[in-house]
Amino acid sequence: MTAEAAQASLDERADALERKMSDELDVLISKSALFNMADGELGAVGMGLDETTKRGKFYLMADDPRLPQMPAKPTLLDFFRCRARGSNHLLQSATHALKAGMEEKIILACLLHDISNGFFIKSDHGYWGAQLVEPYVDEEVSWAIRAHQALRFFPDESVGYEYPVLYTNYFGEDYEPDQYIKDAYQRARKHKWYMTARLITVHDIYSFDPKAVVSWEPFIDIIGRNFRQPEEGLGYDNSPVAHMWRTIRRPTKYL
Ligand SMILES: [Fe+2]
Ligand SMILES: [Fe+2]
Repeated sequence: MTAEAAQASLDERADALERKMSDELDVLISKSALFNMADGELGAVGMGLDETTKRGKFYLMADDPRLPQMPAKPTLLDFFRCRARGSNHLLQSATHALKAGMEEKIILACLLHDISNGFFIKSDHGYWGAQLVEPYVDEEVSWAIRAHQALRFFPDESVGYEYPVLYTNYFGEDYEPDQYIKDAYQRARKHKWYMTARLITVHDIYSFDPKAVVSWEPFIDIIGRNFRQPEEGLGYDNSPVAHMWRTIRRPTKYL
C-alpha cells in the first residue's frame, strides 16, 4: 500500500468513526431556504426554536459532523474527496481529452466543467462552476466552463458534435432552451474562445460507465501547473469566491 493509499484509508476510517459518533448529534442542524426549495417548500428551517425544542443544544456554527472532515487548508482535491460523491464523469471527460492529445488548459476545463454539479448546485451549473474556479485558472478556462452551459444544447457539425440523445431522454423531444441560453450561445459563437468551450462539449462523456477505470493520478501535475491553489486553502484566501468554498465546506452553518 502506498503512503497516499494508507492515508486515504485512514481518512476513510476516521470519517466513518466521525459519522458513527454523530448519529446522535449534539448540535442543532439548520437548513437554508434553498435546501427546502428542493423539497418544494419555502423558507429556512431552524429559526427561533424555543428552549424546550432546543433541549440545551446549540446551532451548528462549525463543520457538519455528518460530512467527511476537511483539512484546515483544503485544496481542490480535498473538496472532491470530501464533498463530491465520486468524480467519474469529470475524470472520464478529462481522460477523453487527454487521450485526444488536447493541450493542458482544455484538459483542465474538461476536468472542472461540471464541478458545480459535483458538490454545489445543478441549476445554471456552468455559470456557478466558472465562478467557483475563476480566481484560480486561466481566464480562457473559466470562460469556457461558463459557455459550455449553453453550447451543450447546440450542435456543431464542424467537430461532429450532435445534440445529446440524453437530453432528449431527460427533457423530451420538444424541449427548447431558455432565451438567455440561446442568447449566450449566439454570443459564444462569435467569441475568440468559442472552440475552447466547444471542445468541452466534444469531450463531455455521457456514457457514465461506473466500471470505467479512471483516476486523478494523470491530472495531479496538470492541476499543479494550471490551478493556482491558494496557500491559505480554498475558502480562506479572501478571494471574491472564498465564501462559496466555505459554504460548500459548511453547508449547514447557521449563519
Ligand atoms: Fe455540464
Ligand atoms: Fe458534463
